[in-house]
Amino acid sequence: NRPIAIAIDGPAAAGKSTVARRLAAELGFLYVDTGALYRAIGYCAHSRGVDPGDSAGVEKLLPDIHIAIKYVGGVQRILLGGKDVSEEIRLPEMSMAASKVSAIPAVRAYLLELQRDFARTESVVMDGRDIGTVVLPGAAVKFFLTASPEERARRRMLEFAQKGRKVDYNALLAEIRERDYNDSHRAIAPLVQAPDAVRIDNTAMTLEETVAAMKHRVEGKL
Ligand code: C5P
Repeated sequence: NRPIAIAIDGPAAAGKSTVARRLAAELGFLYVDTGALYRAIGYCAHSRGVDPGDSAGVEKLLPDIHIAIKYVGGVQRILLGGKDVSEEIRLPEMSMAASKVSAIPAVRAYLLELQRDFARTESVVMDGRDIGTVVLPGAAVKFFLTASPEERARRRMLEFAQKGRKVDYNALLAEIRERDYNDSHRAIAPLVQAPDAVRIDNTAMTLEETVAAMKHRVEGKL
């Protein structure tokens, strides 16, 4: 039985991780959140006083960075040098740090094999920005999940509110727009829809509807 890969790409806060987790659970596949890897490198740069936008500085850190993914009760945790940084990398300021380091070619090269290794041995639902285009171009099913920037900012705000954090809607919207721009305009592995990806705009769809639509597509393909 060869492992099966499902790729989910799309802009920030389109609901990729939530639907990917659900889809993976329903299919019995492993969920791999690749954004967490870029966040871990951004966090590492930040905590060592290196500007995440300084490519030479970040590149120099790479040989000493040891990132590992571990699953605890089916939930992905990120270890940086053996330390669990899963909570720290979710801080709002780490989103932009991740976006900045992700434009550095050496960072992308460094993370490529790590991501591919998962799909070699396990059936995966992997989400990110370049999964269907670069990381797993042979994925069995590819999705490009998107929603309007306003709706994405609104959802992100609710998510933070549930964690008891108050964040400004306009600041979130501006950050989402800036990240979308950076992610889709970088020279290497920019965020683009793969030609063979199924595009789902879920601006007016519920989570359940989105997952059902995706599951339907997957079942039709497998
Ligand atoms: O998905 P998440 O918002 O956690 O990703 C954080 C940042 O990591 C993105 O804004 C993007 O710049 C980068 N990223 C990437 N390629 C991926 C996943 C994330 O460039 N496959």
